[in-house]
Amino acid sequence: MNHLNIVATTEGAVGLITLNRPKALNALNAELLGELVTQLEAWDRDDTVRCIVLTGSERAFAAGADIKEMQPLSYADTFRKNLFADANDRISAIRKPIIAAVAGWALGGGCELAMLCDFIIAADTAKFGQPEINLGVMPGIGGTQRLTRFVGKSKAMEMCLTGRNMDAAEAERAGLVSRVVPAAELMAEAMKAAAKIAEQSLPIVAMTKETVNRAYETTLAEGVRFERRLFHAMFATADQKEGMAAFGEKRKANFTDR
Ligand code: CAA
Repeated sequence: MNHLNIVATTEGAVGLITLNRPKALNALNAELLGELVTQLEAWDRDDTVRCIVLTGSERAFAAGADIKEMQPLSYADTFRKNLFADANDRISAIRKPIIAAVAGWALGGGCELAMLCDFIIAADTAKFGQPEINLGVMPGIGGTQRLTRFVGKSKAMEMCLTGRNMDAAEAERAGLVSRVVPAAELMAEAMKAAAKIAEQSLPIVAMTKETVNRAYETTLAEGVRFERRLFHAMFATADQKEGMAAFGEKRKANFTDR
């Protein structure tokens, strides 16, 4: 695929997407978001790719939605385009795991894009924030909702209302990122985590992702019931038989995605 704003490569069974609009600190314009969604959907259909890593540059994961592109829009324009609905909905619908590897700025839509991924590994240089209030708007790709679920009301409210950024250490303490690593090790760590996921059974990985995400959509009792139904269903797969047999035989499991 020929992209202008992202670079898509593969390393083994891991797909790596690098946001590549350096002059605008990877600001998310419509063209970039279109390319990103198209690539993610292509890899979701292509089982030679089993896990995806999304990253930016050392300076910026992404400094937000493209302010210059949004500035002239009217209410009618945003409503009729259903601005950002497509990115939110289509990225949320990807069934393979997506790891965000974040260094530098992850602001506004950049922070929201990282939160749309399944987990975030942050470089010690990462800075997260929702500064939209300074532009006379608020987060518009799910930030008010996802940030609140990640870090709780008090911190999310403070960040959305004041525009204050969090550094990587605070983001880890608050539960926004799974872990912080030295900037020089970010890509190696993210690719290692993705390679580990890529070794697992594809259907079991997809069911696990769907089940963890269910925690955000339902009550505890319903979520646990959903987990139990899929947990039981896993015993109908060849990969459960293989995984448990391999443990007993003290060897590595050879999953066949069945
Ligand atoms: N949109 C468009 N262009 C952007 C941009 C954005 N979100 N962020 C940075 N750029 C551009 C700058 O305009 C600048 O371009 P020029 O060289 O042509 O002037 C270039 O990227 C480099 O930026 P700076 O010179 O500002 O770099 P800096 O190191 O001095 O500052 C920064 C870095 C603090 C991240 C600063 O660029 C900044 O504050 N950016 C905007 C952050 C922001 O407000 N994000 C929220 C956007 S709104 C949104 O995302 C809505 C939503 O929820 C969907």
